Amino acid sequence: MISPSDRPTASASRILVTSALPYANGPIHFGHIAGAYLPADIYVRTQRARGRDVVYICGTDEHGVAITLTAQQAGVTPREHVDRWHKVICDIFQRFDIVFDHFSRTSTDLHAANSQEFFRQLLAAGYVKPLESEQLYCARDQRFLPDRFVIGTCYQCGHPEARGDECPRCGTWIEPLRLGDPACRLCGSPPERRATRHWYLMLDKLQPELEKYIGARGHWKRNVLQFVNGLLKEGLQPRPITRDLSWGIPVPLEEAAGKVIYVWFDAPIGYITATQEWAAGMGTPQRWKDYWQNPDTRLVHFIGKDNIPFHCLTFPAMLMGQAEAWKLADDVPANEFFNLEGGKFNTSTGWYIDLDDFFSKYSTDMIRWSIARNLPETADAEFTWHDFQAKVNGELADIYGNLAHRVLTFIHRYFAGRIPAAGATSAAHEDLAVLCRESPNTVAAAVDAYRLREAAVEMMNLARAGNRYFDAAAPWKSRKEDPDLCAATLNRCVRLLETLAVISAPFIPSSARRLWVMLGRQDELEAQLWDRAGVVPDPAGRELGRAEPLFSKISADQVAAEIAALGHRAAGRHDAGTGKDKTAMNDQDKTAVSGLPALRPEITIDDFLKCDFRLGRIVDAEKVPGSKRLLKFTVDIGLDTRTILAGIQEHYDPETLVGKTVVVIANLAPRRMMGYDSQGMVLAAEVDGTLTVLTPFSEGLRPGAQLS
Ligand code: 2FM
Ligand code: ZN
Repeated sequence: MISPSDRPTASASRILVTSALPYANGPIHFGHIAGAYLPADIYVRTQRARGRDVVYICGTDEHGVAITLTAQQAGVTPREHVDRWHKVICDIFQRFDIVFDHFSRTSTDLHAANSQEFFRQLLAAGYVKPLESEQLYCARDQRFLPDRFVIGTCYQCGHPEARGDECPRCGTWIEPLRLGDPACRLCGSPPERRATRHWYLMLDKLQPELEKYIGARGHWKRNVLQFVNGLLKEGLQPRPITRDLSWGIPVPLEEAAGKVIYVWFDAPIGYITATQEWAAGMGTPQRWKDYWQNPDTRLVHFIGKDNIPFHCLTFPAMLMGQAEAWKLADDVPANEFFNLEGGKFNTSTGWYIDLDDFFSKYSTDMIRWSIARNLPETADAEFTWHDFQAKVNGELADIYGNLAHRVLTFIHRYFAGRIPAAGATSAAHEDLAVLCRESPNTVAAAVDAYRLREAAVEMMNLARAGNRYFDAAAPWKSRKEDPDLCAATLNRCVRLLETLAVISAPFIPSSARRLWVMLGRQDELEAQLWDRAGVVPDPAGRELGRAEPLFSKISADQVAAEIAALGHRAAGRHDAGTGKDKTAMNDQDKTAVSGLPALRPEITIDDFLKCDFRLGRIVDAEKVPGSKRLLKFTVDIGLDTRTILAGIQEHYDPETLVGKTVVVIANLAPRRMMGYDSQGMVLAAEVDGTLTVLTPFSEGLRPGAQLS
């Protein structure tokens, strides 16, 4: 067993960086980018420029109940589903210029073998054990209901839509048997309890080691330590790491036929598999060990806050319980959530930004910069169109772009495009030189401390200082009065711009590269060493490249149009009720509101005509005794008056529904629920997690009318 290593020094020269593996279950949006990917990409680019040996690993997370369910709803196999989303997600990362050394996926054979080996070793060491327990079982669907197959009321916060694995509102690790009013996600019926056998990770046995490990991580972010220490204080419990599912990695035991390894067990092992694939691809198949089994390496996991327990406790526990010594995370800079104009990014309600449209109008660096300046490092943060405009116009264009443009066009105009001589130094030049020398260190120190927002500000401060220097030196005057001083000013400005290009590259890589070329540099910007970036050798005599504006500005009209478009999209989704655009559904949305379900498989008109939809009038409505979920209606459907139960108690005061005309499926086989036979179904639409009963109010409607 590995002993908790002490805090590594910030100067560790070998660093393995991972970003949370996104589920191959839907698109990723700005919120994901801000949480786990852009910060890691900026960190990696900076450390690499500083000469560190960095490997940046990621991939898609391709197992689990959510994927199984969404694939099923979409009428495709899980394999087809993850293949599709893996590709879409790769493309999205490219658009944001997030560059991994290797981007893998967890549905590979190597990964299955690795995960099974981890399982076996933990079993052999007594950290994984089989336990008999009761689990929720749906008699109607004849299956156990792992994780998201069941929903119910959270016993911690009362949220009515908690899932069997976690509560999306309060983040509690849910014990499914404790959910209030549980219901099968597939058919809605209340599940029963059945005894079954599963394999558990004995986190309780590993608690003392985990306490030592976390105890030596006092430098972690406060939000991370608070969460983890809270769980340790409650006392860790064994957690089941197998599931009754068909899609996943088979449990490597004969007696576990039909069971697969829990997605959260195999996913973090994906970091290891991906590193192995990377090493093999580099032609050095054993090199992955330098990153995973050498204590001198620094291991950093970039994640969103909802992934804290798995990265800070479960995964370290899995590594501690292996026979060999593995690296445990040295840093887990977990971010808070990143929202959009005051709401959560949500594809199903239209509260999102269409990436095709966005990238047809704005550049990657614009969005990278706007997100970098607002990273949710200490509190939730958000993207707003006004702020986007302010950051692009006020910083990228007016400060960074302006400095580059005024310096370069001046040299083109008055020095025939050749950098003029440095001439004699002066106090102002010395001050500027000090600033240029210090800037890379200031930015790097903030990056080392995972304060990337601050690092971005420090980088822009150098451009700001450059503009101040240019203004104070007023070369347009000295050109006539003191040409040597004018030349010296421009020479210093070019040096500052070279420093700026190097230290801005992690944030706005393609603009920094363009600037580098405009500065007349023929070599690679990425090959420049950060530690030398602050002292630029005299560039006098070099010919500049063509000067072009780096950023275009965003107009007030554009902002207004974008805000209006967002509003229309959201309103369109809302009015449509059931939503028409179901292609981009994402069951994995980490917000409290679940996404719209994907379209069910196609049916024929004959299938449809089998359903007898009738108008009914609710003559009585009351709560079902003993249920927090169900309402019992007495409904007049013209042909008869019948009892219908519906799981909408938390959305309605029953009396308000009496007298309402509703739509009923009248020929549904009766179903026994809580001691009553429910004879049909009242139609309701789910919008943002709220169920609304459909109540047509056109004139002339009466109970019994058939819908077609
Ligand atoms: O929350 C998520 O999106 C998970 N797919 C993250 C997995 S991270 C890792 F452990 F693989
Ligand atoms: Zn069911």
